Amino acid sequence: MSTIKYRHIEAAEYLINSKYTIATTGAGISVESGIPPFRGQDGLWSRYNPIVLDLDYYYSNTIESWKVIKKLFFDFFGSAKPNEAHKVLARLEEKELLNCVITQNIDNLHHEAGSKNIIEYHGNSRQMVCMKCADIFAVKNLTLTNEPPKCPHCSGLLKPDFIFFGEAIPQYAATQSVIEAKKADVVLLIGTTGEVMPASFIPEIAKSSGAKIIEINPIPSKFTNRFTDIYIPQKASEALLMIESIIFK
Ligand code: APR
Repeated sequence: MSTIKYRHIEAAEYLINSKYTIATTGAGISVESGIPPFRGQDGLWSRYNPIVLDLDYYYSNTIESWKVIKKLFFDFFGSAKPNEAHKVLARLEEKELLNCVITQNIDNLHHEAGSKNIIEYHGNSRQMVCMKCADIFAVKNLTLTNEPPKCPHCSGLLKPDFIFFGEAIPQYAATQSVIEAKKADVVLLIGTTGEVMPASFIPEIAKSSGAKIIEINPIPSKFTNRFTDIYIPQKASEALLMIESIIFK
């Protein structure tokens, strides 16, 4: 039996025997939906200056920032569809083999795939928040143009409800993800470099509370040699479909 096949079987056994499993996902899970990762040679940050997501820059260079944000996070991300990896996670939750997804992604694809218990660690792109009166608006009820979006109530500047550089993690996500991590027997760690803090602490907290880590990533991450128990060097959908087929064979 090939090593990789053995790792799929071992991962399936972990999931079957676990009382509480969480998935922590990064940009890599959405790559097969056509969304490029942030880092690396062809990553978004090699083509766009991340300063557009700096909070102070958004205030002082709103027109320039907003144009890039709209193009990337609403026009482009908004047209992406969930891939098989998102769908397997939703099916595992439905079959009570997965309890929670903690994602760094703001692309809404876990929601669209049907996952229910999702913690969006960096916020989401479904809502906008007014920087003046703090009202929140569903993006589907707004008309986004190239002009910076304005609050329908007070005309203050709207900002996407995902975190910009320099902003704190949303309070609920920060506390609830630690609770979930401490409960976990098994973590499916999918498609993240582990370079972004404090998101990278979540699998660490789970590991130090005794969880086993199954990591899926074609390229080893900061976690792989430090504490991953089963490393599967494959694309997310490939690995998850294999593991799912073994569980339900
Ligand atoms: N399946 C699984 N993993 C993949 C795939 C795939 N098909 N393709 C790429 N990857 C892996 C890469 O090897 C890399 O480890 O996904 C990771 C993507 O890395 P990044 O783009 O740096 O994303 P991530 O580490 O999740 O950080 C995302 O960066 O700028 C911030 O806040 C932003 O939430 C975002 C965070």
